[in-house]
Amino acid sequence: MKGLTTLLMLMASMLTVVSAEARPIEIKFSHVVAENTPKGQMALKFKELAEQRLPGKVEVKIYPNSQLYTDSAVLQALQLGDVEIAAPALSKFQKYNSQLQVFDLPFLFDDMAAVDRFQKSPEGQKLLNSMTSKMLVGLGYLHNGMKQLSSNDPIRVPADIAGKKFRIMTSDVLQAQYEAVHAIPLKKPFSEVFTLLQTRAIDGQESPWSNTYASKFFEVQDYVTETNHGLLDYLVVTSAEFWYGLPDDVRDTLKKSMEEAITYGNQIAATQSQEDRQRIIDSGKTKVIEITAEERQQWVNAMKPVWKMFEDEIGADLIDAAIQSNEL
Ligand code: SIN
Repeated sequence: MKGLTTLLMLMASMLTVVSAEARPIEIKFSHVVAENTPKGQMALKFKELAEQRLPGKVEVKIYPNSQLYTDSAVLQALQLGDVEIAAPALSKFQKYNSQLQVFDLPFLFDDMAAVDRFQKSPEGQKLLNSMTSKMLVGLGYLHNGMKQLSSNDPIRVPADIAGKKFRIMTSDVLQAQYEAVHAIPLKKPFSEVFTLLQTRAIDGQESPWSNTYASKFFEVQDYVTETNHGLLDYLVVTSAEFWYGLPDDVRDTLKKSMEEAITYGNQIAATQSQEDRQRIIDSGKTKVIEITAEERQQWVNAMKPVWKMFEDEIGADLIDAAIQSNEL
């Protein structure tokens, strides 16, 4: 009898091993935006490529629109092994590496080509790999675009937003940027922005065209001012424990799939920005305000002193390297 029990237990444990081996590796990819955005499309492309190249070996489950985690929770969830991939905005990494705040400095990059050069530079690549001691592995930068200001009131110059409440991401640089123009910045999760705008609990927000369009902020805001005052890009991250625990061949294939998905997402970001701008104009729900060079200079003058405030935390050399990326 004892022999039979032992045999049955052995068979049961063998079955468990066989079924565990046969089960695909589950990769949960959590993000906070809609699927019709550069990040949403990149995530879907990654799933397509990874599952095509590793049939039966991996299953990628995508959770958009903060269905699983907000950005402030997702990095901790990665560290705890509750999720495998995330792509928060660079502004959300301040507490993991304060040098990443360089990306939030207002009016630092002339355009997305300059951002791309900086991200590909040795300094940019070093930042990508700077959080391994926190168990976070950077898989790549992903573009979205330059931010615009949306509001209930027409905004042309800094004086127009004095005393107004603006939602910002969890970034001290962004907080300082709004305080520099005497506005009231409120750090809130992306998932709350639409309701805050709709109920007029806040006056405005800043986002690239794709988020203002896809999350329908334009439907509850009367104006969008084209300031291009700052950047919203992403860092695609995974956890060191998950990544380095993968079989080498699986990791290599996932890495290649992610690189291709990012290239795809970046191509979408490059074209979608202007398309979404036009969709917002065509909706007739929001007026897009184009400011003059003189008005833009007023924003630069008011906000640029923020650079100096964060020079010690970010490093003057790093800020210089970012400035250099504006020159071809
Ligand atoms: C995102 O594009 O991931 C959202 C960024 C934000 O919190 O505004």
